[in-house]
Amino acid sequence: MNIQISKMTLDDFYQIKDVLISDFDDFWNVNTLEQELTNENSNYLVAKIENQIVGFAGIKSVLDEADIMNIVTKKDKRNLGIGSALLEKLLNVAKEKEIKKITLEVNESNISAIHLYKNFGFKEISIRENYYNKTDNALIMQLSLI
Ligand SMILES: CC(C)(COP(=O)(O)OP(=O)(O)OC[C@H]1O[C@@H](n2cnc3c(N)ncnc32)[C@H](O)[C@@H]1OP(=O)(O)O)[C@@H](O)C(=O)NCCC(=O)NCCS
Repeated sequence: MNIQISKMTLDDFYQIKDVLISDFDDFWNVNTLEQELTNENSNYLVAKIENQIVGFAGIKSVLDEADIMNIVTKKDKRNLGIGSALLEKLLNVAKEKEIKKITLEVNESNISAIHLYKNFGFKEISIRENYYNKTDNALIMQLSLI
């Protein structure tokens, strides 16, 4: 399986806009994502297989720190290495931008995402109680790139 990773464009976004919630995940604020793609502090990547979009991921940077804003694989393409391919390239983009620290928050019940982040060396640095829907805790994870 040949996963192609490239910079995500607005054209890519328009291709998946109508299926973001059904085919990728149900938490999207579509307008926020569109704004992210035109924000000069954001860097988004898209994963394609045979020219079909199967995932995307993005960071937002401030000076030498960045947050992972999104990483998602199309529902019917999970566990095929697409999330790992996206994260690997995203970390390369961060290094090119001389980012020193990369942080993210993840629902503590999101086992597959936590597994993915730990594979790349992210460590849990804190927990935000009842952060999601006032019930689920958020883990804050961080990776030092220096
Ligand atoms: C998190 C997500 C992006 C991972 O994408 P993916 O394309 O499935 O990732 P990969 O195929 O590279 O697999 C990632 C790792 O998770 C592991 N994994 C998947 N499901 C798992 C589970 N239920 N329990 C433990 N590990 C699991 C895989 O085995 C793999 O680990 P390995 O490489 O050591 O075998 C995907 O599940 C997703 O889109 N989730 C919904 C959006 C989301 O929650 N994003 C994160 C927000 S913080």
